[in-house]
Amino acid sequence: MKTIVVANQKGGVGKTTVARHLAFYGYEKGLRVLAVDMDVQGNFSTTFKIIEEENGLTALRESVAAPKQGLVASGLFSGKDRRQPVMCDKEGRLHYVEADSGIVEVERRDLEEVIKAGQKRFAELGKDFDVCVLDTGPAVSNLLVVALSVGDFAVSPCKPDRDAIAGLAGFFSNVVRVRDETGINPKLAPLGILPNQVNKSRAYHRSVLNQMREAWGEGVLPVELYERAAIDVAKDRAVWRTDRGESKGLAAQEMKGVCAYIYNRMGL
Ligand SMILES: Nc1ncnc2c1ncn2[C@@H]1O[C@H](COP(=O)(O)OP(=O)(O)OP(=O)(O)O)[C@@H](O)[C@H]1O
Ligand SMILES: [Mg+2]
Repeated sequence: MKTIVVANQKGGVGKTTVARHLAFYGYEKGLRVLAVDMDVQGNFSTTFKIIEEENGLTALRESVAAPKQGLVASGLFSGKDRRQPVMCDKEGRLHYVEADSGIVEVERRDLEEVIKAGQKRFAELGKDFDVCVLDTGPAVSNLLVVALSVGDFAVSPCKPDRDAIAGLAGFFSNVVRVRDETGINPKLAPLGILPNQVNKSRAYHRSVLNQMREAWGEGVLPVELYERAAIDVAKDRAVWRTDRGESKGLAAQEMKGVCAYIYNRMGL
């Protein structure tokens, strides 16, 4: 299983949007996909709960005797929770791990222990899945270190905006900490920054993007996502599967291009 962590400490930059599409894209490629939500806001989880419900699987799960509740995010790091991810498609190739309020407690525990438990559980889950997409929340916290400790790759959506870019410094220092300084996860490969919600007709966006590319070179992905109404409405299905929203054809093409690029970089 290859795990990609979608992270940026700044809020509202498109982390969950990108995570959802990476999960949908992998699924449509025929892969076995695990979606993990480590953001207590739970937006990523909601998407898969709706898919589970649409497939008529929620009632089935709840009618089965204990343990009726599936694995939740904090359980991934507890070292003793044996619950399993929840299946949300009929083929059994799409599963999710819901965010729970306990996830915020995780970072208050012994970090080394938490990471060891998480890495062990992810290695076990790796037998059942080809790709894991892990969505994270906006806070500056050790929870990001924990998420990065189980990742093979990381990608950081970012708006072309000075304040959003400022959030990246924290992200990169955590990558360096996890990969190089502590040796917690030497295999972590940061793919880079994914410019999102770019408005090509705004001079400010164009100039900030140029500055980002000049300053960080290959640290900024060669692909980008534009501000599209169709992306904004595609919360429970991929933008290439929606019939709503302006410029949906373009939005679909751009999003597929970005997902294809990222899967290619992951060797999938
Ligand atoms: N390219 C885009 N075009 C149009 N709308 C977008 C685009 N990317 C994201 N959005 C919208 O912007 C809002 C914030 O996106 P999203 O929830 O993915 O950000 P986030 O980084 O996960 O936020 P948080 O930090 O709160 O978890 C959402 O309403 C989403 O639909
Ligand atoms: Mg989010």
